[in-house]
Amino acid sequence: MHILAAFGLLSAAKLAAAGIVPRADVTVASTYRNYYPPSNYNNYNYTTTKSSSTTPAVYTDTHVYTDTRVYTNTQVYYTNTKTYTKYPTTRYYNTTATGVYTYKPTPEPSVTHYTPKPGEFTTACACISASYSSALASYSANPDPDAAYPTLVPILAREGWDCLYSVPINVELTLTFIKEVKKYIQFQSTIEFLKNPPASSLQEPIDLIGSIDALAQRVQSGDIAHHVKFEIEFTKLLQRCHDGHFNYAFNSGNLIFFTGPFTIVSVSTDAVEKPLVYVETDLLEFGLADTAHITRIDGYEVEAWLAEFSDFGNSQSPDARYNSIFSNRDPGSDGAFFDLWGWYPGKNYIDVTFSNQSTYQYPYGAFAAWSDTLNWTGINDGSDFYKKAVLNADYITVQASDLAPTATSTGTAAGSTYTGGANANAHHFHDSKASTVKRDLNKRGSQVKRASPSPSPSQVQLVYFNQPFMRHKVGPFVQDLNAIIGGYFLNDTVETAVLDISSFEAANDNADYQNAGFQAALYAFFDEVRRRGTKRLIIDVRGNGGGLINLGFELYKQLFPAAPANSYYRFRAHPGAQIFASGTETIASQSATDRLLNLIEKDAPDFPDDEVSRVVDRLLNGGFSRQTELDVKGNKPEDLATYIGPYNLTDGPVNDLVSLLVKTNLNINLGGTPVSGFGALSNFTKSPQPFQIPDILFLSDGTCASTCTIFAELLKREQPGISSVVMGGRPNDGPSPDVGGVHGSRVLAYKDLLQDTIDVVNYAAPATTELQEYYLANLPLPLPFSAGFANINFRDAIRPEDKTQTPLQFKLEPADCRLYFNHLMFLDSIYLWGELAEFKWGTKSNFTQCAVGSLEKGKGSTGEVPPDPETLNVANWIMNAWNA
Ligand SMILES: *[C@@H]1O[C@H](CO)[C@@H](O)[C@H](O)[C@H]1NC(C)=O
Ligand SMILES: *[C@@H]1O[C@H](CO)[C@@H](O)[C@H](O)[C@H]1NC(C)=O
Ligand SMILES: *[C@@H]1O[C@H](CO)[C@@H](O)[C@H](O)[C@H]1NC(C)=O
Ligand SMILES: *[C@@H]1O[C@H](CO)[C@@H](O)[C@H](O)[C@H]1NC(C)=O
Ligand SMILES: *[C@@H]1O[C@H](CO)[C@@H](O)[C@H](O)[C@H]1NC(C)=O
Ligand SMILES: *[C@@H]1O[C@H](CO)[C@@H](O)[C@H](O)[C@H]1NC(C)=O
Ligand SMILES: *[C@@H]1O[C@H](CO)[C@@H](O)[C@H](O)[C@H]1NC(C)=O
Ligand SMILES: *[C@@H]1O[C@H](CO)[C@@H](O)[C@H](O)[C@H]1NC(C)=O
Repeated sequence: MHILAAFGLLSAAKLAAAGIVPRADVTVASTYRNYYPPSNYNNYNYTTTKSSSTTPAVYTDTHVYTDTRVYTNTQVYYTNTKTYTKYPTTRYYNTTATGVYTYKPTPEPSVTHYTPKPGEFTTACACISASYSSALASYSANPDPDAAYPTLVPILAREGWDCLYSVPINVELTLTFIKEVKKYIQFQSTIEFLKNPPASSLQEPIDLIGSIDALAQRVQSGDIAHHVKFEIEFTKLLQRCHDGHFNYAFNSGNLIFFTGPFTIVSVSTDAVEKPLVYVETDLLEFGLADTAHITRIDGYEVEAWLAEFSDFGNSQSPDARYNSIFSNRDPGSDGAFFDLWGWYPGKNYIDVTFSNQSTYQYPYGAFAAWSDTLNWTGINDGSDFYKKAVLNADYITVQASDLAPTATSTGTAAGSTYTGGANANAHHFHDSKASTVKRDLNKRGSQVKRASPSPSPSQVQLVYFNQPFMRHKVGPFVQDLNAIIGGYFLNDTVETAVLDISSFEAANDNADYQNAGFQAALYAFFDEVRRRGTKRLIIDVRGNGGGLINLGFELYKQLFPAAPANSYYRFRAHPGAQIFASGTETIASQSATDRLLNLIEKDAPDFPDDEVSRVVDRLLNGGFSRQTELDVKGNKPEDLATYIGPYNLTDGPVNDLVSLLVKTNLNINLGGTPVSGFGALSNFTKSPQPFQIPDILFLSDGTCASTCTIFAELLKREQPGISSVVMGGRPNDGPSPDVGGVHGSRVLAYKDLLQDTIDVVNYAAPATTELQEYYLANLPLPLPFSAGFANINFRDAIRPEDKTQTPLQFKLEPADCRLYFNHLMFLDSIYLWGELAEFKWGTKSNFTQCAVGSLEKGKGSTGEVPPDPETLNVANWIMNAWNA
């Protein structure tokens, strides 16, 4: 599901308002780096002159070179060739334009990256700690009872980096981490597809395991000599897989993080012309006509810099990644130019050149953070940091013999004879802190929400009417109590309704009644639709990174009560998954499952609260049990072998072992709110369908991921006539996908996988020494480094008719219509919806065409999504900082 960025709570506006990120008037660097140089770039000559008559001074670059091709510094033209190499792009430059910038500074200017010196970095952590103490002290001394607790203290980017740089590397532990983390990564459903991706997926081929092994070698050889370098190289490797379900957030990011100087936006004059890049606050203050756009960043042509930067975004679609860079006010996000994808940018200042010829240098921001779990007390140098933030306090080493059965753990869990508890102090591994089992069923990606009793309206208000919602200027007619979905009725001439859904889960992890509130809000919305006789509907999923799977089905069924609702998936059946599936089969056996379901059905007040029932309950929903699954024909897989296979993928370029293709079974509801149309609510299928296909418009910005893609795929498969519009993306006038995030239909956290190991070892322990060795070699074990969060994508969503069983995110399908954001659209969703409704169904729209394609289904854009611009020739500005 949607993984919140670690720094999601930080608002650029708030920081800027506090004056923390000053804009420094600084000079232009005397050399710029080139971008996309002509092949004969060596034949150049360039000088910089300074005009001292203006303040700040204006610098003029003059270039002389003999290349026959010329390109502008604002726009890049290219076409797509069919051959797939690394980046299947041929670039053509505008040969008539003026304002040419091309130069090759060799060597690279040293100011472009920053390497701490021992004299500075050894004291940096202590300085940060002192800043923190003094912020705390002035908070304590402040008599104002409303004073804010200092959870964020601004520091210098240099200082933050110096401190991280001073954290020592422990080669042996790092190698252990690498060895052990590979067992988790084996569960990543796409590792074979990433190695050999379909050309049309625009995914750069990545051999994950091979790349991780290469990192190990660099650690061993001393090439990676600082712990933080290892963290960043590892993080970036995962980020280049462009999968929002696949990540590992080291703890250091919870103590120190970096920000860009401001937020930027990509805005077109009229939604059809190619957009330009602006500083958001400038645009808001001065308006489109009076704001200079950004032409270069750090000397690179701006679109080239952004293409390189967006290569670390977590959407499969390059246009969705591009959108993720920018701020959007409504729904709100600051964008990656501000949050920097979570890492140090490699330097402490950024040069930005505007169309009015000015270049300014801005400092990157940095913050020391304080959370419930981690703070700066006692961190005075890099080794303190290592001990407190890097090392996993729960780490233990595990031997094969630790996995052996204990007197009470063998084969008894499923039966009624198990008494529980006795294994608690059996031995090392079973005894570890990591084995503490917490009853926590309401996880992202789980289908169940057990904890909340059926709410009675007198206790909980499930929906709200005409109340504020997100950043919209006008509140919706109705929303659920957790503000997941809002239902609007527009004041347009065609009487359009809107469902605004930028997530399928509450912002608050501990929110209650997510399913019940969501369902109730939709019931109220569709009742009002019927009362008003509203005919048209826009479904806005911009920014929707997913959430609870059941909510995706709930929305789909309320839109199409009688239609089938099937989502198909499978997972990797490598040895670790095979062990979990067979252990689960033993523990959550047919009889143990029946017993549990029986109790749940009776809503027994004495719901089994013993440890074994909890384990059965957890494993049933853990992803490896066949007990609640259905094959594509709708039957429960006959036995373990049928379920887990492993089956070979043979009909495509990818070799892998996978489990049986199954489909979602919403009829067995493990005690939560039933989904409309399933189980106890199966008669909902008789309800009338509220909107007809030609009267529905699907609106997206391409970042739709996870549960959002499950919902979108239900629409695509079962209601193919619905037309779609995608906003934004690279200024290339090419087709762009409406659903461009990871289509994985289930994410698993590392802690879930570790818990699976613990459950299997505790309740279905390997009996022979040989098996113990096999389990040790394949099962996820505690890792030496801790993480704020860490996940793999577990299930691939697959179309059953696709013989190659290619995960759906590798199939980029263009929206019918593509529009860029104009200066009002990124500010005001209600304006955007009104324009779109009039454009599609009415006569009052200001625009009459899409930038690409058409709003009429079937006459929309076709063809392949164009690839990222060629970036290989570019000195990789990010990695360069690391290779220094
Ligand atoms: C570059 O310009 C300088 C000054 O005009 C000149 O001396 C030099 O020969 C030029 N170099 C090339 C390669 O044209
Ligand atoms: C090239 O640039 C010139 C001047 O900016 C412009 O008039 C022309 O349309 C551009 N050519 C193309 C193919 O866009
Ligand atoms: C150039 O444009 C930028 C961005 O709008 C602005 O901040 C700056 O003041 C302008 N510089 C001059 C010299 O007008
Ligand atoms: C900081 O963390 C330590 C544990 O490492 C804890 O004992 C202490 O109370 C925390 N301080 C604050 C102010 O939260
Ligand atoms: C529609 O117009 C009414 C009356 O002016 C206003 O109160 C309401 O907020 C408008 N609704 C929307 C969605 O703009
Ligand atoms: C599946 O592939 C493995 C090796 O990758 C091979 O040993 C096995 O025979 C194959 N099974 C089938 C059914 O093709
Ligand atoms: C479904 O059944 C419930 C109770 O049995 C009833 O209240 C509801 O009206 C029925 N819904 C439909 C659409 O028939
Ligand atoms: C769109 O048209 C309406 C009138 O139909 C006008 O009030 C509004 O300013 C226009 N918006 C833009 C962005 O042109």
